[in-house]
Amino acid sequence: MGNMTTNPLQQLIIERIQREGPIPFAEYMRMALYEPGYGYYVTGAAKMGWEGDYFTSTDVSTLFANCMGRQLYAMWEKLKRPPEFLIVEEGAGRGHLAEGVQAWAQREAPDFLAVLDYRVEDIRSGQDVLGDTLFLSGALEVRMGVERNPPILPSFCRMS
Ligand SMILES: C[S@@+](CC[C@H](N)C(=O)[O-])C[C@H]1O[C@@H](n2cnc3c(N)ncnc32)[C@H](O)[C@@H]1O
Repeated sequence: MGNMTTNPLQQLIIERIQREGPIPFAEYMRMALYEPGYGYYVTGAAKMGWEGDYFTSTDVSTLFANCMGRQLYAMWEKLKRPPEFLIVEEGAGRGHLAEGVQAWAQREAPDFLAVLDYRVEDIRSGQDVLGDTLFLSGALEVRMGVERNPPILPSFCRMS
């Protein structure tokens, strides 16, 4: 332990614990990921892809996006094909999954694509989905409590 160096974020967390005593794990994670000026998701360049810190399904193949497309299509069918179908992908990163799902729909279910309103949100474009309020492209505001109650948005699907 004697030779271990601490980065500024670790230092901040250590000081906080020294000052206040134990903190909940959720708070530790919040600081690690979102602490302004320090957190993993709010500093530096995006870290996804083969050259980054990690990669996701879309870096490997189209399989997951295709499965997602099929699943969403099945939900739409179960809902008796409503004329509008809103999808909000939270933490959409580069938008590759969104592209993959829509490419699947274009190929396999153009009627579904025609009603699909697929939106993406990411903290890197200013939308923190952990906040109390979810803003959907500025036009629609859905409070978290209400959002879980389908009547406000009959054909609303939230993915994260
Ligand atoms: C593991 S990546 C997934 C990216 C994408 N869904 C994919 O499959 O390639 C997580 C993404 O969530 C975003 N993110 C993390 N916390 C967030 C938050 N509180 N609000 C909005 N986006 C967030 C990050 O910026 C990152 O782009």
